[in-house]
Amino acid sequence: MEGLITVAEVVTWDLERTAKEYRDHVNPGFVKMLGLLDFDKQFVRAQGVFIYDQNGREYLDFLGGYGALNIGHNHPRVLEVLQQIEARPKILPAAINPFAAALAHNLSLLTPGNINRFFFGNSGAEAVEGALKTARAATGRQGLIYADGGFHGKTFGALSVTGREKYRKPFVPLVPGTFSVPYGDLEALEGVLKANEVAALIVEPIQGEGGVIVPPEGYLREACELCHRYGALFILDEIQTGFGRTGRLFAAEWDGVSPDIICLAKSLGGGYVPIGAFGCTDQVWDAAYGGLDKALLHTSTFGGNTTATAVALATLEVLLTEKLAERADELGSYFLGELYKLADVYPIIQEVRGRGLLIGLEFTSATSLFGRIGGNLLRKVSEEYLGGLVASELLNKHAILTAYTLNNPNVIRMEPPLVVTKAQIDQVLNSLEHLLKTNSGLGKLALSAVSSKLRRG
Ligand SMILES: Cc1ncc(COP(=O)(O)O)c(C=O)c1O
Repeated sequence: MEGLITVAEVVTWDLERTAKEYRDHVNPGFVKMLGLLDFDKQFVRAQGVFIYDQNGREYLDFLGGYGALNIGHNHPRVLEVLQQIEARPKILPAAINPFAAALAHNLSLLTPGNINRFFFGNSGAEAVEGALKTARAATGRQGLIYADGGFHGKTFGALSVTGREKYRKPFVPLVPGTFSVPYGDLEALEGVLKANEVAALIVEPIQGEGGVIVPPEGYLREACELCHRYGALFILDEIQTGFGRTGRLFAAEWDGVSPDIICLAKSLGGGYVPIGAFGCTDQVWDAAYGGLDKALLHTSTFGGNTTATAVALATLEVLLTEKLAERADELGSYFLGELYKLADVYPIIQEVRGRGLLIGLEFTSATSLFGRIGGNLLRKVSEEYLGGLVASELLNKHAILTAYTLNNPNVIRMEPPLVVTKAQIDQVLNSLEHLLKTNSGLGKLALSAVSSKLRRG
């Protein structure tokens, strides 16, 4: 048919052409936002920690696909495995898939506690959907508790336990029977557990999109015990913290906590494929799905397909053979230590938080300053995208890709692939110091960014 575009054409497109089609047919607001932040680039090649734009400029990827690239871009071992399974059927939902079985076997050995059964889906949000449904089916109860500031995805169920009003409001009413509690607050948790028939609490071991919030020592273990005391299940969302990110294969290991259900996604796909999973104990599985009648209560056409599960197997192999969790532990401690020093010198860094290579830098809010200066666009940018402005400077002046966290735009995250080197971390530290030195306040940075946009229209 005339006018249809082929892959051969797409690989020759420049940024302008891509932006036109994206604006016309995908999401014009997103194109505008990237333009406003000077984030509109077209990357055409990637390897390990590096990405390259059309002009051959090399960038350090310190965003790491929001945690989906722990083994780096285009890892050659995964490519080998993809060639190995070339002739296999890729989608056969009515048959049992050996790669899915092997992946579940390996995950049962590697995940914390007694997690032994796995369901494979295609994203983080889907993993969360499955976990929430399983908790209700296994307990026969309805209540679901979640933490303020937590992020679990944007499908209806996952959004219903995600703690940011901006994302929830246009879609109400959400799934009924949910209760929010402050993250880290055991008393509030016990209050809700006592007063309601609760199926489960869902929490992240460290809130990623909430702005990289590390809970008080012992919180996860005690929250889990409280859940059990009141007959509820404990769901740990390791979608962003899993697979070595925090310096352990799973962040649960820091607290010695054994969840009833665990949610996985992001780096399980090795940066190649979408895959998500929830795992649970035998007791939880049997209560929810035991027996012929209940075996197909929760299913997915693409879930557990050959490509996704074989890639995930290869990814686990890379994580272990390259000792990436240990690497994240060592380099993360170094990175955090140097960032604390920067924060001591530059008060516009309000706080540095994190564990392993999941690190957040919170900047002082510039809202009051912009209130005085006035100007709606400026105020909007300062309130919503302050972290984005810092990320924009790092991207354009220093060729370093970072981004702000979804539930807290004043925080930029440092989440590089775990194959990162100390020299690359030093390069980022030097760039950050240069940026802080030359922009004596974030107000100045925001002003210059917005006024240059207004000049360019
Ligand atoms: C902790 C956590 N849970 C769930 C999700 C949702 O994953 P997805 O975007 O694959 O649906 C995310 C995504 O950022 C996440 O960080």
